Amino acid sequence: MKRSIGKFLVGTVAALTVLAHTAPTEARDYRLGTIVPAGHLWNQAAQRMNDALSERSGGEDGVSVFPAGQLGDESQMVQQLQTGALDMAFLTIADVTNRVPDFGALYAPFLVEDVAGANKVLASEPAQALLGRLPKEMGVVGIDYGIATMRQIMTNFPVDDISDLAGRKMRITPFKPFRDFYNILGIAPTPMPLPEVYDALANGQVDAMDIDPELILNFKFYERADHLLLTNHSMFPMVGLVSGRVWASLSDDEKQRLRETMREQLAWVRQQYEEQEPQMIEKIRTTGIEVKPVDQSFFPGVVAKWEEIWADQKPLTDELRAVAASE
Ligand code: BEZ
Repeated sequence: MKRSIGKFLVGTVAALTVLAHTAPTEARDYRLGTIVPAGHLWNQAAQRMNDALSERSGGEDGVSVFPAGQLGDESQMVQQLQTGALDMAFLTIADVTNRVPDFGALYAPFLVEDVAGANKVLASEPAQALLGRLPKEMGVVGIDYGIATMRQIMTNFPVDDISDLAGRKMRITPFKPFRDFYNILGIAPTPMPLPEVYDALANGQVDAMDIDPELILNFKFYERADHLLLTNHSMFPMVGLVSGRVWASLSDDEKQRLRETMREQLAWVRQQYEEQEPQMIEKIRTTGIEVKPVDQSFFPGVVAKWEEIWADQKPLTDELRAVAASE
């Protein structure tokens, strides 16, 4: 009898201990927004996060993904994160940079050569320290960085040298680091969200765009612009954010589970781009458009002038350049 009671107690205590460590306070269906189209790697990572979180929580927790700006543009999503109306988002750092300008250092022209270099810089202490400022300065928790492919220039006219771009209307992601880059070069930056770009190329609102290879394929921009300059002039980080208010409402176990799961998927995103970028460029070549690699000398003087404008961020930019140049 004793043995069986003991057995019962041991079993019960063990079961309660397991429950205390695994059972969530309440089932959570986290809402996660992005502006990129369905099928984009950021949304694939968000979907993988749903699967992993569900597995870790015994089917209790999950993630509902809202792609393609269904919840609004990035600025609107940031506001929703701040009020707690939205739980999480995978965002470009455009709106974040508009609010915390030091993030602009990540867009210094020719900071890195490729996605592998970008991933190294984003893992470094100075880049990670920027994330630590987000709760106080923006009311959001920055879990880690993701990345997209390197920035390139696509045009619907042939380009031999930089003078061919003078005065042209260049679609850019709406934020200051890119605006400054093109202003320095005498090119007319035209801020425009992604879904408008295809038609804008057709109706002459823009005749060139600052873009990346994945989006060229996703949106079939090669149907409207048949010259691609492979410039690699900037990396394009993404950040995984959680609402500060939502974060404060989570138990320590939930925070840890969410942090770990999101970090794993952001690492997956960074790795995928390292592996897939060359294949994406090859796929663009098969469309028959002109693909022309150029190097930094194509943009004379732009780095020094950009860093003059971003003088407040120069010490940080120098630190990031040192990380990029290190073995
Ligand atoms: C862009 O505005 O070009 C962009 C937006 C989201 C992901 C990657 C690029």
